[in-house]
Amino acid sequence: MYTLSFFALFLIIILFLKWRRIRLPNEPPLDKGFLPWLGHAFAFSKDCAKFLLKMKKKYGDIFTVQVAGRYVTVLLDPHSFKPVVTESNTKLNFTKYSAILMDRIFNLQFPDYDHNKEKALLKTQLQGKSLSSLTQAFLSNLKTVLLIDENGTKNVWKKEGLFNFCYDVMFRAGYLTLYGNEAAQTNQQASRVKDRIHSAQVYKIYKKLDQLLIKLARSMLSADEKKEAASVKKYLWRLLSVENLKTKVNRSNWLESYCNHLQELGIHHDMQERAMVLQLWATQGNVGPAAFWLLLFLLKHPEAMSAVQEEVKKIYFNCVMSTISQEVLDNTPIFDSVLNETLRLTAAPFITREILQNMSLQLADGRKYHLRKGDRLVLFPYLSPQMDPEIYEDSEKFKYDRFLNPDGTKKTDFFKGGKQLKYYNMPWGAGTNVCIGQSLATNSLKVFVSVMLICFEFQLTDPKTEVPAFNTSRYGFGLMQPESDIMFQYKVKVE
Ligand code: HEM
Repeated sequence: MYTLSFFALFLIIILFLKWRRIRLPNEPPLDKGFLPWLGHAFAFSKDCAKFLLKMKKKYGDIFTVQVAGRYVTVLLDPHSFKPVVTESNTKLNFTKYSAILMDRIFNLQFPDYDHNKEKALLKTQLQGKSLSSLTQAFLSNLKTVLLIDENGTKNVWKKEGLFNFCYDVMFRAGYLTLYGNEAAQTNQQASRVKDRIHSAQVYKIYKKLDQLLIKLARSMLSADEKKEAASVKKYLWRLLSVENLKTKVNRSNWLESYCNHLQELGIHHDMQERAMVLQLWATQGNVGPAAFWLLLFLLKHPEAMSAVQEEVKKIYFNCVMSTISQEVLDNTPIFDSVLNETLRLTAAPFITREILQNMSLQLADGRKYHLRKGDRLVLFPYLSPQMDPEIYEDSEKFKYDRFLNPDGTKKTDFFKGGKQLKYYNMPWGAGTNVCIGQSLATNSLKVFVSVMLICFEFQLTDPKTEVPAFNTSRYGFGLMQPESDIMFQYKVKVE
């Protein structure tokens, strides 16, 4: 009894001391919120863009807030991002926080894990020749998913939610590309049908995990959701087990290298399959939602649609093409501008670093702040630069040629406070931990949009439907998803 009371008292003192934290000289403004320990947790998880904008108005572009027992320093001045994204891992650490999420979401723990080695290895599999073979494989798998007509319904209009359609198609083609095809049947058509059925099943299960992901990351699942998450993960672990992956054909070099790497490290089979599920999310979680916003903005902006259509015609893309060169894919300035504009409006990841040592951070305007060891530092480029009206006129609006110069070349000069910005759009992150899959994701999106434009007729069921609002709980986790889907119809073009 005495021990229990003593323990409770001890806990209260610790919580009190933590809550009593006061701002020291040279530290950013501190806002602990009204609730002890929780601080601003509710506002942060409900709609963090709204919350951080409110804090920015109150404190300026750097401040520290308390969120569920942690002190998070938020930096919103894009001129000052460079020292953060290029700082060494020993001071501002990327892996520590991602290890926490890896465990919480995917039950994955790696002992003595060398993040840089793994990243360097995977990066080489997503560049040069490897990138080119992944792109050709993606084109072939995309056709399997989109153009195989098992039921003879090719020329009939099909109605579907646009978000679900895009996520389904991109996920299935991306999954088959990286993880391989189902073992070959008597003929190619039969193999493709098998791939279609299998990848549709995988997407159905993956989608459940994706829907629970935010709550998993925040440890906020109800008892029923916990059960569902456990069974979904169990299914995916089995699906991506070492034995199962061995049965596949056309496995990518990316997969081979990663499997060998995990084996060389002596990682237990249980952990290997969990790592494969993590990779499934890291490689597929953003591409489908990006494809959705891309098609939706094209559908809502006819001038953008015809500009992209013209460009795709110029590269002579057609439905029977089985290869597409990187040179061709690298010469699409209009599409690149449309993609940049789409991601500017819809990519909202946190760039999170754990502060491992007391350190000082000098901002671009000369202000110097002390950062405390044990706190977390977060950049949220969605607010600034991406949605900053000082940088982008009518920043809420989609303008397909925003990233084009009048002569049609790529526009890269954007300004804030009269000074040119190095980081003016950051959907892929920046610096040391920038996305290593950017080229593959961009190629896949280009191929997808080209196939849709050349091989399909498609339109919104009700062209007047508004662009749906964001599901605001997903701020911080990459590409935003819509609060509700929007219906569209499509059919294969008759030549
Ligand atoms: C539209 C699609 C995508 C977007 C918007 C995106 C965005 C991002 C962002 C913002 C980060 C940096 C996180 C940080 O600094 O904290 C990141 C990292 C990463 N991305 Fe992507 N990504 C996409 C697609 C892909 C694809 C297709 C792959 C792989 C095939 C991939 C693999 C990775 C990996 C492995 C990292 C971690 C890099 C590191 O360890 O430093 N991503 N991504």
